[in-house]
Amino acid sequence: MKPRRNHVLCLLLLMASGFLQDAAGEPIVAKCPPSDAEDTSNEFCKCDQNPSRSNRVITIKCKFNDKEDVLLTDELYPFRNQTLMTAYVRVENASSVHVTESFLREWQQAPSIALDVWRGGNLTLDPTPEHDNIKRFASYKTFVGVGIVKCYVPEIPSMFLRDRARGGFRLKGSRVGVLREGFLHNIEEMRYLVFEDTVVDKVVGSVATEGYVTLSKRELHSWIGLRLSNVSINSLAKNAFNLTHKSDMETAMVVNSMLGTVGTGALTVAGDVSVTITGNTFQHLQKEAFKIAVTGDVKFDENVIKSFDPDALEGLVCHNHTSLERNTVHVGKFDGLALNASAAPFHESCGSPQLFMVVTPPASRVTSATAVATWLIGVILLVLVVALVAGVIYTWKTQGLVLRYYTGRGAPMYLNGRKSSQENLPNSAEISANAEAAETGVSNPMYNTTAPS
Ligand SMILES: *[C@@H]1O[C@H](CO)[C@@H](O)[C@H](O)[C@H]1NC(C)=O
Ligand SMILES: *[C@@H]1O[C@H](CO)[C@@H](O)[C@H](O)[C@H]1NC(C)=O
Ligand SMILES: *[C@@H]1O[C@H](CO)[C@@H](O)[C@H](O)[C@H]1NC(C)=O
Ligand SMILES: *[C@@H]1O[C@H](CO)[C@@H](O)[C@H](O)[C@H]1NC(C)=O
Ligand SMILES: *[C@@H]1O[C@H](CO)[C@@H](O)[C@H](O)[C@H]1NC(C)=O
Ligand SMILES: *[C@@H]1O[C@H](CO)[C@@H](O)[C@H](O)[C@H]1NC(C)=O
Ligand SMILES: *[C@@H]1O[C@H](CO)[C@@H](O)[C@H](O)[C@H]1NC(C)=O
Repeated sequence: MKPRRNHVLCLLLLMASGFLQDAAGEPIVAKCPPSDAEDTSNEFCKCDQNPSRSNRVITIKCKFNDKEDVLLTDELYPFRNQTLMTAYVRVENASSVHVTESFLREWQQAPSIALDVWRGGNLTLDPTPEHDNIKRFASYKTFVGVGIVKCYVPEIPSMFLRDRARGGFRLKGSRVGVLREGFLHNIEEMRYLVFEDTVVDKVVGSVATEGYVTLSKRELHSWIGLRLSNVSINSLAKNAFNLTHKSDMETAMVVNSMLGTVGTGALTVAGDVSVTITGNTFQHLQKEAFKIAVTGDVKFDENVIKSFDPDALEGLVCHNHTSLERNTVHVGKFDGLALNASAAPFHESCGSPQLFMVVTPPASRVTSATAVATWLIGVILLVLVVALVAGVIYTWKTQGLVLRYYTGRGAPMYLNGRKSSQENLPNSAEISANAEAAETGVSNPMYNTTAPS
């Protein structure tokens, strides 16, 4: 009996240690199973290679069980040794994902590449190394797309997306610590730059090493150029987003977002772009926070500005198709400012737009006697009413000066909003990667077309 009991104990201990090991989380290195594999019991990754010689595509989709710590390394798939045109990698449902440099080095070998991480938990991104044959590769590099959905990303490194003719980047439902300066490097045109339902602590500099981002022509994609929607960014560095575009009309929108400190030129847009900045709250706008000089429509509506430097909106130049409606500005004290439209922070080309001013008493005063507080509330209400009336009067008086643009054809913007829904987006990344390769019809330049399949 005794030895047997020992056996049971040993077995229990073994099981326990097994569980412990699981919990301690030996990271799992994601791998495509060998195509002739018999054992399919532990396969997290499905890897499909399109056999067509003219358009070689590898599609790798790894689904984990929400508990695994995952390492993406060069062991995933031998990208380098294939005559690939397009490489798509998706990692789903992990408790953490580490995208290592060795993976990025290999993945980059295909001309058209895309990476999606969905529900990846704690996502660590290594810096992307330069392509190891950049000179030879230069004429073939077509596309890089990265989509991050529902992850916690402590840092997005500099030059994360690099050296491609076109790029796309999307963050949704995620938290980001730091978005490093120049996370885009040597991307000739961006198809989309999308942040949705996401909290970013800091954007520390221009998103592109070049200091500006060129948006691509729309004809080949349905995605919106720049879109910040329901985003919270604590600190947005000066010149963070400097966008240009020529030819067809692109879109830049910042909607329903909370931006903390907005540096000078944090949103700079020039060229054939229509700009929508609507329903946001800005904690503090520095001098010329927005520099908008575009040929498209400009909407700056329903924003709340908590504090601002005197020339905060000087850079927003109005023209025929400009709408500045129902914005609210908080002012520090009641000193007649509310009645003085020329003190409003807009560029003179905008005339005297309708503006609601709210007097915010310094916090210290509110904490004093309630009588004072009541009195202050009275004043605030009074000022609000006066400001409302003043706003209406100014609107009425200046109708001839400020030509307001009430859109009767605003629909395309909303249509695009729907198109970039969560369901469509990841597929789009895939499709756009394929489309890119098909468009240019190139194969991995590191291998000629006679390479073995
Ligand atoms: C790729 O090819 C090189 C040489 O042709 C070889 O040394 C290397 O092991 C191959 N890598 C993989 C992952 O097959
Ligand atoms: C991924 O996780 C989500 C939420 O936990 C779950 O609804 C979904 O079924 C999971 N998918 C897979 C493939 O495990
Ligand atoms: C995420 O990773 C960072 C650094 O690797 C670590 O400090 C942090 O605790 C992790 N967070 C979670 C929730 O695992
Ligand atoms: C906005 O984003 C937050 C996460 O930052 C999310 O919890 C919330 O549901 C989003 N709101 C809408 C209306 O999508
Ligand atoms: C913004 O981009 C334009 C090019 O479109 C460039 O001339 C300008 O210098 C950039 N601004 C800054 C502050 O880098
Ligand atoms: C503004 O309107 C005037 C005349 O109505 C027109 O000549 C001009 O081209 C318009 N400007 C823009 C930027 O649409
Ligand atoms: C309105 O503001 C401008 C500039 O801030 C100032 O020069 C002018 O005196 C003010 N007018 C009134 C009536 O307060």
